[in-house]
Amino acid sequence: MSTSHKVHCLILPYPGQGHINSMLQFSKRLQSKRIKITIALTKSFLKNMKELPTSISIEAISDGYDDGGFHQARTFVAYIMRFKEVGSDTLSQLIQKLADSGCPVNCIVYDPFLPWAVEVAKNFGLISAAFFTQNCAVDNIYYHVHKGVIKLPPTKNNEEMLISGLSCTIESSDVPTFVINSEGPRILELMVNQFSNLDKVDWVLINSFYELEKEVIDWMSKIYPIKTIGPTILSMYLDKRLHDDKEYGLCIFKPMTNECLNWLNHQPISSVVYVSFGSLAKLEAEQMEELARGLRNSNKNFLWVVRSTEEPKLPKNFIEELKLTSGNNKGLVVSWCPQLQVLEHESIGCFLTHCGWNLTLEAISLGVPMVTMPQRSDQPTNAKLVKDVWEMGVRAKQDEKGIVRREVIEECIKLVMEEEKGKIIRENAKKWKELATNVVDEGGSSHKNIEEFVSKMVTISK
Ligand code: UDX
Repeated sequence: MSTSHKVHCLILPYPGQGHINSMLQFSKRLQSKRIKITIALTKSFLKNMKELPTSISIEAISDGYDDGGFHQARTFVAYIMRFKEVGSDTLSQLIQKLADSGCPVNCIVYDPFLPWAVEVAKNFGLISAAFFTQNCAVDNIYYHVHKGVIKLPPTKNNEEMLISGLSCTIESSDVPTFVINSEGPRILELMVNQFSNLDKVDWVLINSFYELEKEVIDWMSKIYPIKTIGPTILSMYLDKRLHDDKEYGLCIFKPMTNECLNWLNHQPISSVVYVSFGSLAKLEAEQMEELARGLRNSNKNFLWVVRSTEEPKLPKNFIEELKLTSGNNKGLVVSWCPQLQVLEHESIGCFLTHCGWNLTLEAISLGVPMVTMPQRSDQPTNAKLVKDVWEMGVRAKQDEKGIVRREVIEECIKLVMEEEKGKIIRENAKKWKELATNVVDEGGSSHKNIEEFVSKMVTISK
C-alpha cells in the first residue's frame, strides 16, 4: 500500500444500480481523506459496464452466476443463496490476494443485503461497517419486523399504526411492499436478515442525513452505532469540495446526454415535468397509457425516461405524435438520461417518479418538488415521507385496480407546478436543497460523521 494511505477499505455493494452508485460516491469521499479504496463487484455486473471509473480500484468477485448474474438465477432468493456461498469464498480469496500483494485490507464496508460479509471480515480480523442504501425510516420498519413487533399482515387497510421511532403514523399502503405482499415472504426474510448479525459490526452507515430523519435516527442510534453519511451524490452538485468529481457512477445504461440537455435548454424556466421510474420498475401497459395521457392533458412540457424494455408499452404512435407537437406540451422520450444534470436544470419544475430512494434523495438535494407514484419495495414509505414529513410533493393515488388514472396525474402535476396550494411544496423543496448541501459541507452533520468514521478507522487500524 502506498505510504500516503493509512487504511485500506474494501467496499462490497449489492450488484444493483442504486446500491453501487451510492457506495461509489461514498468511496470517493473516503478516498479524498486518504483512505485506500477497493470496490469488489461481481463479474456478471462488470461485464455489462459501459465505462469503469478511473479514479477507484475495482476488483472482481463471483456471485456464482458469472454469465448473467441475477437474471441467470431462477429467483431472487436462489440468487442471494448462491451469492452467499460463492461470494464468501471469492471475497476471502480477494482479501488474501490483496494482503499477499502488500495491500492488506483493514475494513469492509458491506451492503447488508449480503450479511455474510461480516463473517468474512471476522475471519480475517477486520473491522466492518454495514452500509444501508435505504433511508432510516425504512430500515426501522424492517427492524421492527425482525423483532416481531409488526404483525403480518400489519393492519387492516387504511388503519393507522404507530411504529416506535417513526415521526408519523403510517397505513398499510405506506409500508414497504415486501412486508405486506405475497410477492414474497422470502424476500422479506432477506430484508429482515439485514439485522441478523448487525450487533457484530463496528458501524452502521446510512445513506440519509440527520436533519431529514432526526427522530428515527435518534431512536435507532440507541440500538446500533449509526452514522448518517448522505446524500451520497456527486460533490459537484452539493458542496463542490471534491475537485474534479465528474465521474457519474457505474451505469449499465448509456445516457442520452446531448439530446436531453439540448432539448431542456430550449424550454422555459420551471416548465418541464421530468419523469423517471429508475432502473428496475416495470409499469403495466395500461398504466403507461394513463401516464402518457395524463402528461399530455397536463399541458406541460415533459422529459420522460422510458427504458428500451418498457418502450413497447407506450401507446401506439405516441413518440411520433410528440414530434409533431409545437407550443406547450412538447415532450421528449429518452431511454436514459444524466439524471443529476437534468434535475439541476433550470427548466425542470417537477419530478414525477416511483420514489426509489436514490432518485428521491437526488430530488431532495437538487430541490425539485415531486409527484410520486410508488410501485414496490421501499417506494411507498419514501412517498409517504415526501408528502407528509418533508412536505415537498404529493402522491398520485391509485384506483382499486392499482392504476393511477390520467385525471389524477394531471391534477397532481398542476398542483405541484402552478397552483397556490402547491406553493408550500415548492418552497420546502428549496429548503431541503439548502440543508442537503450544508450537511456534506465542512462542519455539516454528514461531514462530521464521515470525519469521525475515518479517524476511528485510522485509530483502530494502527
Ligand atoms: C432500486 C429500488 O427500486 C428502490 O426502491 C430502492 O430504493 C433502491 O434500489 P431504482 O428503482 O433503480 O432502485 O431507483 P433508485 O434507487 O432511485 O435509482 C435510480 C438511479 O438511476 C438514480 O441514481 C438515478 O439518478 C439514476 N438514473 C435514473 C439515471 O442516471 N438516469 C435515468 O435516466 C434514470
